[in-house]
Amino acid sequence: MPTTTRATRILLTSLTLLASALAQTSTVCNPLDVTCPADPALGTTFNNTFSSMSTMSGDIWSSLGSTDPTFPADDSGAAFTVAQHGDAPTVQSKWYVFWGHVSVMMRAAPGTGIISSIVLLSDDLDEIDWEVMGGNTTHVETNYYGKGNTTQMNSEYFPCDDPQGGFHNYTVNWDYREIQWILDGTVVRTVTYGQAVGADNKTMYPQTPMQLKIGSWAGGDASEPEGTREWAGGLTDYAKGPFTMTVQSVMVQDGQINSTDYTYSDRTGAWPSIVVAQ
Ligand SMILES: *[C@@H]1O[C@H](CO)[C@@H](O)[C@H](O)[C@H]1NC(C)=O
Ligand SMILES: *[C@@H]1O[C@H](CO)[C@@H](O)[C@H](O)[C@H]1NC(C)=O
Ligand SMILES: *[C@@H]1O[C@H](CO)[C@@H](O)[C@H](O)[C@H]1NC(C)=O
Ligand SMILES: *[C@@H]1O[C@H](CO)[C@@H](O)[C@H](O)[C@H]1NC(C)=O
Ligand SMILES: *[C@@H]1O[C@H](CO)[C@@H](O)[C@H](O)[C@H]1NC(C)=O
Ligand SMILES: *[C@@H]1O[C@H](CO)[C@@H](O)[C@H](O)[C@H]1NC(C)=O
Repeated sequence: MPTTTRATRILLTSLTLLASALAQTSTVCNPLDVTCPADPALGTTFNNTFSSMSTMSGDIWSSLGSTDPTFPADDSGAAFTVAQHGDAPTVQSKWYVFWGHVSVMMRAAPGTGIISSIVLLSDDLDEIDWEVMGGNTTHVETNYYGKGNTTQMNSEYFPCDDPQGGFHNYTVNWDYREIQWILDGTVVRTVTYGQAVGADNKTMYPQTPMQLKIGSWAGGDASEPEGTREWAGGLTDYAKGPFTMTVQSVMVQDGQINSTDYTYSDRTGAWPSIVVAQ
């Protein structure tokens, strides 16, 4: 059976973070509050096709869940399986990108309430998401948040033909002007810097270096708040599982070629405050 990578073992100590679904969007050190270590930069283009465990390097990926991805013998990809209450297999890149391009070839998990997530998340909780509900075979969700403010719903849904039945290409293009969500090569949503404002007129535009997190979890678990279960599509019935999300490949291009790390020079979280080391 697949075993735990070196990186996984270290990261398992932060497992309690995953007790809640929102753990996929938590931060270890928030640079708006305290001084944090520099974020290691990807600084290049990264391609990763998953077939066996050795294709998911512990030098690149940390496993955050109580269970790890597995690698089916048919080489279909990395399998993120939710079989019971508490399962939330999730991997996180050790590097960050500061603007860039992210493409994930993914077959979403089926199952009412099961969420397949592709999340870009920064240390100060700027966030860009693709999310697929296991019980929804016709639409997928795009979303973003600025600085962890989830008061305002920014989600929008787009048609997708059977996301649980086959692989689709979930892409994000992100720079200081706009975010594009691209589904199977078609731009389905664009949010410009100027459009991403809250009711208080403050910007909500995601604009700080991001890590990539990929995983599945049960938003429909009985322990989740009612609002989360409703959003997820209803109560998860584990007897109908296990529910598996499969990730075939990941392609990432950092917006800052040759960068080595990213540092917040102040507590604004504004993009001009990010210092790019080469
Ligand atoms: C990664 O894949 C993309 C798309 O296939 C390709 O354009 C790019 O050159 C590849 N980069 C590397 C470093 O292999
Ligand atoms: C799937 O999502 C779309 C968009 O939110 C919604 O209109 C539709 O009712 C959903 N389908 C199911 C089965 O929940
Ligand atoms: C996914 O879509 C993006 C944007 O259209 C494209 O650049 C990339 O090559 C596609 N990836 C694969 C594996 O087809
Ligand atoms: C969060 O966003 C809401 C809606 O835009 C806004 O009214 C509120 O002031 C924001 N909260 C903070 C702490 O910025
Ligand atoms: C936001 O900006 C609009 C347009 O300038 C203005 O009418 C409105 O009063 C502002 N709202 C707040 C809460 O500052
Ligand atoms: C990145 O570094 C390589 C090798 O030193 C150099 O050839 C290239 O011009 C650099 N690219 C950028 C965009 O800085």
